[in-house]
Amino acid sequence: MTNWLNGREEDKLSGRLEGRSVVVTGVASGLGREIAREMAREGAHVLGCDVNDEGGAATMEEVGHYRHTDVSREREVEELIAEAVTRFGRLDVMVNNAAIQIEEELVATTEAQLDRILGVNLKGVFFGCKHAVLKMRPVGGGAIVNIASILGLVGDGVLAAYCAAKGGVLGVTRATAVRYGPEGIRCNAVCPGDIDTPLVEAYFATGEDPAALRAEVEREYPLRRIAQPREIARAVVFLASEDASFMTGQPLVVDGGLLADCY
Ligand SMILES: NC(=O)c1ccc[n+]([C@@H]2O[C@H](COP(=O)([O-])OP(=O)(O)OC[C@H]3O[C@@H](n4cnc5c(N)ncnc54)[C@H](O)[C@@H]3O)[C@@H](O)[C@H]2O)c1
Repeated sequence: MTNWLNGREEDKLSGRLEGRSVVVTGVASGLGREIAREMAREGAHVLGCDVNDEGGAATMEEVGHYRHTDVSREREVEELIAEAVTRFGRLDVMVNNAAIQIEEELVATTEAQLDRILGVNLKGVFFGCKHAVLKMRPVGGGAIVNIASILGLVGDGVLAAYCAAKGGVLGVTRATAVRYGPEGIRCNAVCPGDIDTPLVEAYFATGEDPAALRAEVEREYPLRRIAQPREIARAVVFLASEDASFMTGQPLVVDGGLLADCY
């Protein structure tokens, strides 16, 4: 396969976020790590957070600043965003990426599991939108990008609470876009299919033959593979930048064609 992903060709990037102040949640691994790197490559000042301090600090050592934050706790999210304003003078872009996954069907999901998933995956995004808006309003706008999933749009029978949270993320995205659009704040979501991250590796590892399970999943995709994290991070950069200046309230599906296929 020859494409721009083969080499990390920084020279092809164009400083789309030069000098912007960006906060990214869940930067210790996977997609969040790649988003933080991509934002920095585009010239942004980046503050990243996570609950995994070792991984989070390792990511941000190269590309910005790190702060421990549990996104399910409102005060911690408020303080995270306040730190970005203190460090960089304002907040231009908020990326709500942190999430967890618990594999359980509806009838087997406990109240504690539901609370945990909704706490991180939905309340975390809600708090991120709320406190970003509070800082963006006084300076005339900004862009919020929420990482949802194709599972905000279609169902997976063994990820009931996760689907509930991701559907909720699309609801918060639209409510934020509609209410604060007149104040220059855009809010969109990215809906990825499977991405090659530790979260998906953990799922493959549950199979008797992890390599066979991966191959089976990849066959489902019209592009016959799952996404590399950077392919999703580029969509996040797009929504955060002026390239998406007339987009708000949208779920941007980046799924290798999976949902386009009725079989
Ligand atoms: N990997 C996929 O196939 C896939 C598909 C669709 C959507 N997504 C979404 O992409 C995003 C990133 O997922 P990923 O695959 O990189 O997962 P990941 O598990 O590799 O990374 C998630 C990060 O969030 C952090 N985190 C967990 N709880 C937190 C909390 N309470 N506060 C702060 N940080 C916390 C974790 O420590 C981790 O660093 C998530 O929103 C996920 O739902 C992933």
